[in-house]
Amino acid sequence: MLFQVSVLCFFLALVIQFVKFRTSRYYQLLKKIPGDKGVPLLGNLLEAFTNVNRLVERGIELRQTYGSTFIEWMGTISCVFLCDPRDLEIALNKSSALAKPRPYKVLELYLGYSLITADPTDWKRFHKIITPAFGLPTLKSFIPVFNEKSKILVEVLKRHEDGQPFDMLDYMMMCTLDIVTETSLGSNMNVLKNKRMDIVKSLQAAEDVIYYATLRPWCWTPALIKSTSTYKKMVNGVKGMWDYADYIITQKLSDGSRESNSCRMVKTVGEISDESLDVEKKRLGFLDHVICGLNDGSPLLKQDEIKDNTITVIVGGMGTGSLVMSASLMLLGLHRDVQEKVVKELEHIFGDDIDRAVTYEDLMQMVYLEQVINETMRLYPPVPLTGREATDEIKLTKYTLPAGTYIAIPVSLIHRNPEYFPDPNRFDPDRFSPENSANRHPFSFIPFLGGRRMCIGKKYAYMQMKIILSTVLRSYEVLPCGSREEMEQLQFKMTLHMVNGNNVKIVPRKR
Ligand code: HEM
Repeated sequence: MLFQVSVLCFFLALVIQFVKFRTSRYYQLLKKIPGDKGVPLLGNLLEAFTNVNRLVERGIELRQTYGSTFIEWMGTISCVFLCDPRDLEIALNKSSALAKPRPYKVLELYLGYSLITADPTDWKRFHKIITPAFGLPTLKSFIPVFNEKSKILVEVLKRHEDGQPFDMLDYMMMCTLDIVTETSLGSNMNVLKNKRMDIVKSLQAAEDVIYYATLRPWCWTPALIKSTSTYKKMVNGVKGMWDYADYIITQKLSDGSRESNSCRMVKTVGEISDESLDVEKKRLGFLDHVICGLNDGSPLLKQDEIKDNTITVIVGGMGTGSLVMSASLMLLGLHRDVQEKVVKELEHIFGDDIDRAVTYEDLMQMVYLEQVINETMRLYPPVPLTGREATDEIKLTKYTLPAGTYIAIPVSLIHRNPEYFPDPNRFDPDRFSPENSANRHPFSFIPFLGGRRMCIGKKYAYMQMKIILSTVLRSYEVLPCGSREEMEQLQFKMTLHMVNGNNVKIVPRKR
């Protein structure tokens, strides 16, 4: 009898909760948004993990069926997908959309508590201290590093100049890892020179594990996942990188760095105008800025916060740019006319001195190369999906999102909207010419996201990508390899990958 009463009470409590939920303002606002309701109680939860490899196709189908705003349910958790640039502009500029949804807790296992994962209050504190490290004077001081590593890349690629296909992504990853460790820690692991492909592969393996966990709600409680073999696999992948960063940070802090020469230099760079900056003498890593903090009495970051933010910058800066540069070269191999135009632009910039290092002024003139990079990021955005959590009601053009809604931003769908990019699957860098971009909505193209919590490394990324690509293209001609159809077979991980790899063929460029 007692058992029957308990069961009855349990079901009664469930029904009360259900009715409460269904009559809540939260549900009443969200039920106006169209979407696939999925199965009772679970919603679309099963879809998320049984069909992981079909996420891109599923997104396209849902958009076609329900329009530019649609909802998916994972039990009582709602996830509203925003594809309309006007809604994105409203939401991403709101302080009530600065928070990250629960799945980012998984990312915390990999990156720690940092710019990408932190709650809004801590994010504001980190952002204030870290932003100056991405200012133009500091970025200009990194140009020699970008040039030096690009030259090493050209040397290392010599083993492939026989026109046989090879995966360019591995080399780009090694190059960008060296660059980002040097520009953040002030020293690097010489991964490219020593062809330490294993380091890059283990970081990729760690990313796979994290991605697996991100899509499974039972993994969103870090304390639970920490005891699993999945977590141990991830730690094995990143341990080398964590230890290296830790070693350098501990050394810098024990140097009494906060009173050191580099701190004095950090302060000087902040006061000096771009023109008068002697960049060679004042090359400071991102870490120097973070250790020294601001000169305005703001509290400095703690050692753990410094480490986590440094790892975040290293991981954030490595994979993304590598994917874009590899895809750009693949597309340039398939579109020889576009490659010719890029090379003409480079010949015009570099004249007779075609092998010289790239300067800041050269970067300003690489207008068509930038269009190619943009068109590549439109078709293959390295971060294809990202999210926010509404911490207060957000009124969009048509719907209102209640507090607690997860906002999904499917960048890859947004970039292929025919309303903004006619014939969206076609590769056409002229879409990004100044005339053609002038009247386009700024939130229709958001590879770095937009609004208040966008990518901090955008300028760094353009500088790095232009220097590496222009150096490789001055040395090598890229031949056709594979097809656009093959490139369109995409694998959705934390970042967007091509199922068949990033294969290119190169031969020395005839002068
Ligand atoms: C083509 C290159 C890049 C692309 C497409 C890209 C894209 C993005 C995107 C979409 C976000 C927002 C992620 C989110 O909110 O979940 C982001 C954040 C971030 N990115 Fe990038 N990124 C690139 C390069 C870089 C580089 C070179 C660095 C550093 C050297 C970097 C460091 C960061 C950091 C620290 C954040 C967190 C910013 C914050 O929340 O305040 N990224 N990036």
